[in-house]
Amino acid sequence: MLETRNLTKSFGPIQVTKSVSLKLEKGERRVILGPNGAGKTTLFNQLVGEIIPNAGSIHLDGADVTALRVADRARRGLSRSYQKNTLFDALTIRENLGLAAAVALGKGQGLWSDPLQSPEVRETVREVAALVDLAPNLDATVSAVSYGIRRQLEVGIALATRPKVILMDEPTSGVGPEMSKGFHRLLKSLPRELTILIIEHDMDLAFDVADTITVLNYGEVVFDGLPEAAKGSQLLKDIYLGAWEDA
Ligand SMILES: Nc1ncnc2c1ncn2[C@@H]1O[C@H](COP(=O)(O)OP(=O)(O)OP(=O)(O)O)[C@@H](O)[C@H]1O
Ligand SMILES: [Mg+2]
Repeated sequence: MLETRNLTKSFGPIQVTKSVSLKLEKGERRVILGPNGAGKTTLFNQLVGEIIPNAGSIHLDGADVTALRVADRARRGLSRSYQKNTLFDALTIRENLGLAAAVALGKGQGLWSDPLQSPEVRETVREVAALVDLAPNLDATVSAVSYGIRRQLEVGIALATRPKVILMDEPTSGVGPEMSKGFHRLLKSLPRELTILIIEHDMDLAFDVADTITVLNYGEVVFDGLPEAAKGSQLLKDIYLGAWEDA
């Protein structure tokens, strides 16, 4: 469903992505682990098309999308949520989801027109709100809701485009342990046919949600396999300096 072949990217003299080859099957839930600065976000930015790789290729659902723009990849079913908040604070949750759905459905013409006028948009908003557990919060203004709810909304916005593949960059960053648990549940309840790639620092989440795990270190894939195998790996223990002992 999503594949990279020998993806390579440098910023000046520093190689941040070193010949990364990944393959996600349809419905696979894969977590990318790796220390700060390992190149996780940079890899995502290449997958979605915000950064152009120096070499290698990206394939989405069988097609080479390496040269496609962000919007064209999105149209083919690739969607992402960001490491930092990217919401319209002054609008309600319903309006935020409505805008995302309208753009995806091609009903975003004219800023003056209300996307929620469209029955299709309203239906998508309802479905997505149920998926990310925000149905009771739809009329809340984003600036008034908790940080955890905002993170849920970000996933909702990514889902409102009805993607085949969703990329999430640290969806639980800055969220407390309770909220984080709720997030695990939410992720696990997403449709099984959706292919999910998550960047995560939280080991518990990684082992709880992942079918497979990829570990990046200095831009390089140093582990690619099942969570059980990751737990026992000496290499990973060294990278994380013991953080795995409790996992
Ligand atoms: N636009 C850029 N120009 C130059 N260097 C960059 C750029 N973006 C990222 N880098 C560098 O590339 C390296 C990888 O950064 P990246 O943000 O991909 O890491 P990360 O694994 O997502 O880290 P974190 O866990 O902190 O989010 C870092 O050394 C970073 O400083
Ligand atoms: Mg990052």
